[in-house]
Amino acid sequence: MFDWLLPENHAIAILKKDHDTVKELFDQFEEGNARKRTIDRALIELKIHAAIEEEIFYPTVRSHVGAGLMNEAEEEHHVAKLLIAELESRSGGGDHREAKFEVLAESVRHHIKEEEENILPKAKELDIDFEQLGLRMLARKEELLRQGVPSDQEHAMVEKTNSAGSHPAASTRRKKTAAKARPARSGATAKARTTKTRKKASR
Ligand SMILES: [Fe+2]
Ligand SMILES: [Fe+2]
Repeated sequence: MFDWLLPENHAIAILKKDHDTVKELFDQFEEGNARKRTIDRALIELKIHAAIEEEIFYPTVRSHVGAGLMNEAEEEHHVAKLLIAELESRSGGGDHREAKFEVLAESVRHHIKEEEENILPKAKELDIDFEQLGLRMLARKEELLRQGVPSDQEHAMVEKTNSAGSHPAASTRRKKTAAKARPARSGATAKARTTKTRKKASR
């Protein structure tokens, strides 16, 4: 965590403010306040935040911060974006919607902690115009708010999985239901089938 006093338009101050906004929304959700609206708002905030980091901030600081930390951060974005895509899919996560959002909140809180403890302090060492960078990020945020965030590869992956009807949780449930519905083979029937198979094989 950090408590540097930074100008409002400083790129790091902008990211930190976004972090506080989403953490506040996660708290509201957990307190049970207007859960549906809170999820919708958090998803928009998260998508825009991830976009400005991936398009502008991450590429600017990557080589100074180092591939290890940056790769991990990008993988955390990828996991969060998969959950976001599931929450935005036609089923909206079905009866797992709130559980999915809870997992998203946990993983994003962890990601924010990593950024604030490791990535941002390291990035701050760079000798660049952070306010200029911040203004670019704010302009992009405005644009994304107006136009919407373009669909990403995670949305395409979830769409593909859903159209194949192979969502992991749903297919596990289907298998369990099918196993229950299938009557256990009686000893006599099983024996008859085995004899039949043997006869066929000896022909
Ligand atoms: Fe991030
Ligand atoms: Fe962030």
